[in-house]
Amino acid sequence: MKVLVIGSGGREHAIAYALNKSSKVSEIHAIPGNPGIAKIGTCHSGSVEDLEGILAFVESHAIDFTVIGPEVPLCMGLADLLESKGHKVFGPQKFAATLEGSKAFSKDFMIRHNIPTAAYKEVKTYEEAVEALKDFNYPVVVKADGLAAGKGVVICEDEKMAKDTLWDMMENKCLKDAGDVVVLEEFLTGFECSLLCFCDGNTIVPMVSAKDHKQIYENNQGPNTGGMGTVSPNPFLGDMDEVFKTDILEPFMAGLKKDNMDYRGVVFIGLMIENNKAKVLEFNVRFGDPETQSILLRLDTDLFDIMYAVATRTLDQVKVNWKKEQVACVVLASNGYPGSYEKGKVITGLDQTKDDIIIFHAGTKEVDGNIVTNGGRVLNICALGENLDEALAKVYEAIEVVDFDGKTYRRDIGRN
Ligand code: AMP
Ligand code: GLY
Repeated sequence: MKVLVIGSGGREHAIAYALNKSSKVSEIHAIPGNPGIAKIGTCHSGSVEDLEGILAFVESHAIDFTVIGPEVPLCMGLADLLESKGHKVFGPQKFAATLEGSKAFSKDFMIRHNIPTAAYKEVKTYEEAVEALKDFNYPVVVKADGLAAGKGVVICEDEKMAKDTLWDMMENKCLKDAGDVVVLEEFLTGFECSLLCFCDGNTIVPMVSAKDHKQIYENNQGPNTGGMGTVSPNPFLGDMDEVFKTDILEPFMAGLKKDNMDYRGVVFIGLMIENNKAKVLEFNVRFGDPETQSILLRLDTDLFDIMYAVATRTLDQVKVNWKKEQVACVVLASNGYPGSYEKGKVITGLDQTKDDIIIFHAGTKEVDGNIVTNGGRVLNICALGENLDEALAKVYEAIEVVDFDGKTYRRDIGRN
């Protein structure tokens, strides 16, 4: 099978890496991919938002199966377009992808289908928002309805901050039309956890747990990032499998059915847990980055078989197995991220780490034979171990070997 992966981050490298282990996958292509993926497949220039261009590529290269990594092409309807022309796709269709594309749609889905979540109000004007604030305590959570690349959620400590945030989103259009509609939400306390599942619309299979570390600084300080590292399993999570199944996954599946939502792909459920109860913060319609890097390294079943089963609604026929070993993944970032940072720094040591280290490229490019930094999150350094300590020790040892000007990372992944 010739497989096409859409996207260019560490998540897509991890997906390509896992697919490359399948005896059924003969060729891996990526649009646009990255230098890490280029070692196991062929990267082709192009934008993940150029739906017609991707369709033309699939047809001209006789691609058998397309895996869509990021949310933007999913929300634009790439899966619908490819399927309408008879191509097999992993990734939900546009209507289902609205669960990530619109916070208001997603909250409405949760309430209608009895999925536990924070109380909320959808507002369409600044005046309406200010009026609605009266019904909330502080802190209050202000969420832009549309996709905002991780910048759409602000926890506001007081009324002034809430009004300023609302003004920025709704009147100043700081997030463009993503902030035309806003969701005001009750602030939840507890600890966060990501639950990723394969879903073919009829069957849902949770993956092993992972813990992301969103903040840039150690001890969970500083601004949020896309994620600075993950470990799997999540060391802070007790046995919540039954609670997740009955309180979250069963009503979710019932909701899909009632709404005629054709959901074939990964659903990544952001949860807040308190007193052994889980509430949904958000749905994402794709793999998490960098959760995927840790999770897929523990997968003991052919990823292509799972993805093909999801695409063809036969997930009930696949047994998804996981390795007992634990995984750590630490992100090496550019100095300044998540704010502004420089690019083009030469990366050294990539070929000098020990054999049991897996390095996924997240924001790199090749220039004159050198691999250079090309993003905020640059590399994901990963390892498996008999336990978390062993996996972390391997990763932090490898980090000493890989270097670039401005290399930044958290030293407390898996600990805080
Ligand atoms: P979201 O994109 O909705 O998951 O929000 C991004 C982050 O904001 C989450 O990972 C949480 O850290 C935080 N957050 C979102 N909603 C809430 C809430 N209702 N209460 C507390 N924190 C929240
Ligand atoms: N790591 C968080 C996300 O992928 O949204």
